[in-house]
Amino acid sequence: MAQAQSVGDSVFPALGQRGLDVQHYDLRLTVPRPGSSELSGEVTLTVTARETLSRLALDLLGPRVSAAQWNGQAVAFRQEDGKLMLTPPRPLLPGERASVRVVYAVTGTPASEAPSYGLPFRPGWQTLADGNVSFSEPDGTRTFLPSNDHPSDPATFRVQVTVPQGYAAAASGLFVQQTKAGAWNTFTFSQRTPIPTYALALVVGRLERRSEPDVPVGGQTVRRRDVYAAGLLPSEQVPAGETAEMLRVLSGWFGPYPFDVYGVAVLPGLPLALETATLTTLPPDSNRERVRLHELAHQWFGNRVTLGDWADSWLNESFATYAEVLWAESRQQSAQALLEEWAARLTPDARRPLRATRPGELFDMAAYFQGALALHALRREVGDDAFRQFLRAYVQTFSERPVTTTALLQLVRSRLGAGAEGVLRRWVEAPERPPLP
Ligand code: ARG
Ligand code: ZN
Repeated sequence: MAQAQSVGDSVFPALGQRGLDVQHYDLRLTVPRPGSSELSGEVTLTVTARETLSRLALDLLGPRVSAAQWNGQAVAFRQEDGKLMLTPPRPLLPGERASVRVVYAVTGTPASEAPSYGLPFRPGWQTLADGNVSFSEPDGTRTFLPSNDHPSDPATFRVQVTVPQGYAAAASGLFVQQTKAGAWNTFTFSQRTPIPTYALALVVGRLERRSEPDVPVGGQTVRRRDVYAAGLLPSEQVPAGETAEMLRVLSGWFGPYPFDVYGVAVLPGLPLALETATLTTLPPDSNRERVRLHELAHQWFGNRVTLGDWADSWLNESFATYAEVLWAESRQQSAQALLEEWAARLTPDARRPLRATRPGELFDMAAYFQGALALHALRREVGDDAFRQFLRAYVQTFSERPVTTTALLQLVRSRLGAGAEGVLRRWVEAPERPPLP
């Protein structure tokens, strides 16, 4: 039988399946011993096809599958090379919908290790001192969830996490309920707006959940909750009112906050901060105003506007980084100091064409600082009003379909003209640094 084709990502050629559209993941995850790698899961995916699919090839790396069902009927499956292959009784036709259930587990240690790509950790399900967390960008969600693990296929999620007494769980989206059965507690969350798989927040530990006042912003009300590992100092909490102010400033530039809730989870033992959807994951070391602002900005850029290809990770990082300038200006702080800092860090050997060609470039200086300076150059070229209108149009346009560098340049040309496109293009393509705006 023909091999299912991946989505054809230029950096991660094996990831995802072409023609597959997962609309929803309904996940039940049990974490029997927090702080170990053990887990068991049961997920029902609601899928549709964009082209005829004679088999499904989900990403799954580590867990072993014990059962699979297709529309309620047992179905043949096979695990191989980071894929879970399912063969339905007959092909799924374009536009047709199916429900796929998979039962799986990690007992002892995972069956295979995720690659780290030279990053300081392996993206995926992380083991902390007394808990676990998903830290999955770019392709780690497949270590705990059979998925179409590519940002071009965002989906909604319902997550139910069962943990032993004394532990709690948190995840992307609104808290739905907590139920108790014997020595086990189950926490349920609902993420109702589609997000890329890597942005799914999932935290297990001895946690304190703190609700904060709702934030009215524009015509919208954003719910607020933060999650803290037990035993953190009061100084490690987010200052009262800061998130509300950030939501106001950023939505003034980018348009409405794309989700219904926001907050951070502060957890010791993490390698880095990550903009997990509606619940940023933050180690105490990174729990700083600028980082918090950056991760909030990713909710628009990365989590709502999703990437069509990992080569374009700069589109996530540059907008989130540039938001730091917009925030500084709103605080009457010097944006110039930030811009100079970025220009200084962008040494000649750090510059490159902004489309990444290998995993090591996804989160390098160029993705963050060359990209942010590119956006500043564009703003200087067109002025603040046009820039603001453009940011909003960008978010709206690419909430409907994934973004690429080419699509960004097209949108700039059509809305701001060929001159503006030329300015941006020089920053995108040039290994030489164009003159600082
Ligand atoms: N997107 C994160 C941020 O800048 C960076 C994470 C870097 N590393 C990674 N493997 N994802 O907020
Ligand atoms: Zn970032």
